[in-house]
Amino acid sequence: PGAGWATLDGTPPLVIAHRGASGLRPEHTLAAYEVALEQGADIIEPDLQMSRDGVLIVRHDPYLSSSTDVADRPEFADRRAERFGREDWWVADFTAAELQSLFARQTMEDRSDAHDDRHRVLSFEALLDFVEARQAECGCRVAIEPEVKLPAQYAALGLDPLPALIAALDARGLNAADAPVIVQSFDPEFLRRLDAVSDVRLAMLYSGPDEADANAGGLTLEEIAAFADGVGPYKANLMTPDGDSTGYVEAAHAAGLVVHTWTVRDDRAPLVGETVEDELRALYALGVDGVFTDFPATAVRVRAQM
Ligand code: G3P
Ligand code: CA
Repeated sequence: PGAGWATLDGTPPLVIAHRGASGLRPEHTLAAYEVALEQGADIIEPDLQMSRDGVLIVRHDPYLSSSTDVADRPEFADRRAERFGREDWWVADFTAAELQSLFARQTMEDRSDAHDDRHRVLSFEALLDFVEARQAECGCRVAIEPEVKLPAQYAALGLDPLPALIAALDARGLNAADAPVIVQSFDPEFLRRLDAVSDVRLAMLYSGPDEADANAGGLTLEEIAAFADGVGPYKANLMTPDGDSTGYVEAAHAAGLVVHTWTVRDDRAPLVGETVEDELRALYALGVDGVFTDFPATAVRVRAQM
């Protein structure tokens, strides 16, 4: 914009590929991440679950029926189990090798299934290998924003994602404040534990208006700033239906926190205006520091036009 960006540091907002370019390829696959980088995403997002043998696996849901071919695999027919009130195939009941034998499928209604059953489920290590290979090719830094899912649920199963995350970051020199990494979680206790043993940047995820989940554990922005560098609020926290600021971005910035909001989806109704471009312009005008999107190319294009 002519007057400059209203981000915390005045630089342009970052385009974060949500689960990769998940509007165009099955989420959390190398194909989704490749398209994201081709489209100019600044950061790629892997959500992290954990296998029975303690390996971080790149997947949104803690169960597998929603995003893989597991239900069609006879060798896993007897692995369906009830956990946490749901009968399904659970990531934590499978070894990493078994999980990486599964093929990913599109998860959202009305999206093409043309790329289903072609790309394997990924481990976090495999994603980090991909990132290193891409960096070597381009001579640039490929940033990641991993989200550790459900640490309390994993604790109930006797698993802890924290040591595995630290080990993965340590092994690649990424456990540092200036590394191209921001670790996110909806769980403040997990982030506090991580903050105590790591220098990596952290972001506290928020739900809020129109979302059922608890809102950042009832913490104030100042309390969050004691252990985190940013917040990841649902976009309806930031603006009214008319696109006016709720004051959230300004308050987060005043607390020294960057704001990475979610999720922009070209194929869903925008929160404000008539089109996804309207929504993106409104978010950028508010001064968000990053947008998670399933369609990175659109967010890159709209940013370039402002
Ligand atoms: O991490 C930001 C955003 O991805 C949170 O929602 O459910 O898509 O992981 P979810
Ligand atoms: Ca996420």
